[in-house]
Amino acid sequence: MKIFRGVGVSAMALSLAMTAAAKAEDVEVLHWWTAGGEAAALNVLKENLAGQDIGWLDMPVAGGGGEAAMTALRARVTAGDAPTAVQMLGFDILDWADQGDVLANLNDVAAEENWDSVIPAAIQKFSKPGDAWIAAPVNVHSTNWVWANKAVLDELGIAEPTTWDEFIAALQAAKDAGKVALAHGGQPWQEATIFDSVVLATGGPEFYQASMIDLDPEALGGEQMVQAFDKMAQLRGFVDDNFSGRDWNLASAMVINGEAAFQIMGDWAKGEFINADKVPGTDFLCFRVPGTEGNVTFNSDQFVMFQQDDEAATAAQNAMASAIESPEFQIAFNKVKGSVPARTDVPSDEFDDCAKKGMEQLAAASEAGTLLGSMGHGHANPAAVKNAMYDVITAHFNGEYDSATAAEEMVNAVEAAQ
Ligand code: GAL
Repeated sequence: MKIFRGVGVSAMALSLAMTAAAKAEDVEVLHWWTAGGEAAALNVLKENLAGQDIGWLDMPVAGGGGEAAMTALRARVTAGDAPTAVQMLGFDILDWADQGDVLANLNDVAAEENWDSVIPAAIQKFSKPGDAWIAAPVNVHSTNWVWANKAVLDELGIAEPTTWDEFIAALQAAKDAGKVALAHGGQPWQEATIFDSVVLATGGPEFYQASMIDLDPEALGGEQMVQAFDKMAQLRGFVDDNFSGRDWNLASAMVINGEAAFQIMGDWAKGEFINADKVPGTDFLCFRVPGTEGNVTFNSDQFVMFQQDDEAATAAQNAMASAIESPEFQIAFNKVKGSVPARTDVPSDEFDDCAKKGMEQLAAASEAGTLLGSMGHGHANPAAVKNAMYDVITAHFNGEYDSATAAEEMVNAVEAAQ
């Protein structure tokens, strides 16, 4: 962390700083991994670093999707006290890269360990925006997943749905049986996570690219967008009365314990199932949101390294980056986190069936050009545009807009945010 910045460091601050500097081999890490499965995965990294005598100063900032964490980061950097490493997504990384000379250069580690050839181009777009590696990608998550309680589906005689209409029928059957059909937490980032899939299911990768990534007003305000919002309205009819404000992992718990049948959520949800000792195919099903098969809306968690004042802190930072990209860590961490490795050369045999499916589909989508940056998780456009979309999607989900108005508002909100 930055210790000496500016003038007038008081004697007390100096003595505190000297103490802190004595422990400079610690890494201070800002992140939002506070749910059970996330914390379990993070422990893999903490233990890995402890094995290298690198201490961990934890700076957790709760709040799914990382909005609160990014706000806390801005305050720390403004105060001249940047953490060693920060969990960050996609376009937020690019925004920080544009802030001039605040990020560390990881090229020495990257060159030594051949990151250029093992990290996919879709990820490098964010990790290495120019000539310098400024972040270490930890994983690849994807958002277009459904998580289902297998016992509930078996009890109700519901087969895994393969089309949108079959999915709606399955949700209706669960609701008619008195179950919570769709476990959901009413927070903008969670509605946006579902919206990734609803846009894909409505108009396929071309429509997703045009609307979510290219921000084409014709796509944002056209008939297909109205249809996408109509699908969101359908899903709104399947959530329980207490959905508003619920944290995502509590929605996952509803599926885990059989209170709910389905959840549409990124595969960090699988980390909750794994943390609850649930087994894919036995206790739960994982399948792509019907209508999105063949496409993957991805987001990669990366640790962005901020420049440090002294060599020991910089050395610890490089050791952390190196640990993150090691094949052993990539396997151990992603097995617990629910994501798949950021490296393409990691074998899948130690992973469960959901992860194996995810790794195959990621490779196939990358090959087919249907690996698309998640709008909901900052991989489609910068935060201002993402947050503008969040506002419209959530307003519609909460009944403030009908679908036609929501499509119009998408055009207006995105235009105002650009
Ligand atoms: C995502 C992040 C995941 C998980 C999720 C829920 O943005 O990539 O690792 O933290 O938010 O908070």
